[in-house]
Amino acid sequence: MEGLYIDLGKDSYNIRFSADYTEGLKQYTEIDAPSVIITDSNVDALYGKAIAGLLGAHQYKYVIPQGETSKSIDTVTEILHFMLDKGFNRSSRVIAFGGGVVGDISGFVASIFMRGIDFYQIPTTLLAQVDSSVGGKTGINFPQGKNLVGSFYQPKEVLMSPSLLATLPKRELTSGIAEVIKYGVIYDYNFLKYIKESLKAIYSIDTEVLKQVIRRCCEIKAAIVTEDEKELGLRKILNFGHTFGHAVEALTGYAVYTHGEAVMMGMYHEAAMAKALDLIEETYFCEIAGIIGDTGISTDLKSLSLDLDAVVTRMSGDKKNRAGKISFILPIARGKVQELLLTTEEIKGLILV
Ligand SMILES: NC(=O)c1ccc[n+]([C@@H]2O[C@H](COP(=O)([O-])OP(=O)(O)OC[C@H]3O[C@@H](n4cnc5c(N)ncnc54)[C@H](O)[C@@H]3O)[C@@H](O)[C@H]2O)c1
Ligand SMILES: [Zn+2]
Repeated sequence: MEGLYIDLGKDSYNIRFSADYTEGLKQYTEIDAPSVIITDSNVDALYGKAIAGLLGAHQYKYVIPQGETSKSIDTVTEILHFMLDKGFNRSSRVIAFGGGVVGDISGFVASIFMRGIDFYQIPTTLLAQVDSSVGGKTGINFPQGKNLVGSFYQPKEVLMSPSLLATLPKRELTSGIAEVIKYGVIYDYNFLKYIKESLKAIYSIDTEVLKQVIRRCCEIKAAIVTEDEKELGLRKILNFGHTFGHAVEALTGYAVYTHGEAVMMGMYHEAAMAKALDLIEETYFCEIAGIIGDTGISTDLKSLSLDLDAVVTRMSGDKKNRAGKISFILPIARGKVQELLLTTEEIKGLILV
């Protein structure tokens, strides 16, 4: 399957599909300048030996501990020291080999090292393949909040290898599927139907089906972000399920649910709000709820011990809010969404408990 061209003027790049990730790694590190492949401890345990076997002189592997806590300024400082100690220069490259955590931190490091050096990505989670590898956002967390410091920085190329997902825990796969369902709801109803039919194949890592799914998600995200690279308007629609989802994540200290699980709950409740507002009819709501149900994620707030008032209070701190109202992206027709601003009282009357 041919690649996918992300048209961003001078920052354009290609997403290349390949069954063999080592091909990309070899190619990206075959340069005279030193370069570094950044990965995390879990991915290293699975693929580290294969990576190490490919590295020539002055090509390095740098392993960060797995998990969100690695997305910190301390990790950035450590990697920058490492690169400077090893004599990295303006021709050096940073290659991300991992999930969204590795991708976000690697992209940020590449964007600030000597004011920006070439950056390549080989995403290894479904979430990274369908979401964080398109759009050019990089970032790290601070104690004050997630992704508060970062940059917009595009990779030179992304290598997409669906077979890497074979080792991914089911829970992480489900997390990526949440974003996949999101693309169907916000942009392409036929794709939503395809996802419903393909859910089993996705869970059994059918690489042909995964290729189709990943490709369509990247096409949709690319179409949205190329029109709105700096998040001024259209890009907002990517936040479907996220106003509610982010509140659940924050309320539970980012420790109970994965991002995708919280977004899955968010999509269910935001679609239910759209139904309660008569923006969509019952049958379409049931279609969305049915696909979410097929993933096995529970959306019932009571059984999850989630307090509605506390969730809504958390939403009040969302950075997309305006004029004291909370911003939601809600479905208004099949494959179509729209922003709606609601007060906390209005929301409480709309959410099913
Ligand atoms: N830049 C963006 O536009 C953007 C978009 C969405 C999310 N993000 C960020 O991405 C991060 C979440 O990404 P994620 O869900 O990929 O999390 P992650 O990178 O933490 O990966 C999830 C888990 O899977 C493991 N893993 C990764 N690849 C594996 C493989 N092939 N086999 C087995 N285990 C593997 C990791 O070690 C980790 O434990 C968050 O920090 C989020 O803020 C960024
Ligand atoms: Zn998301």
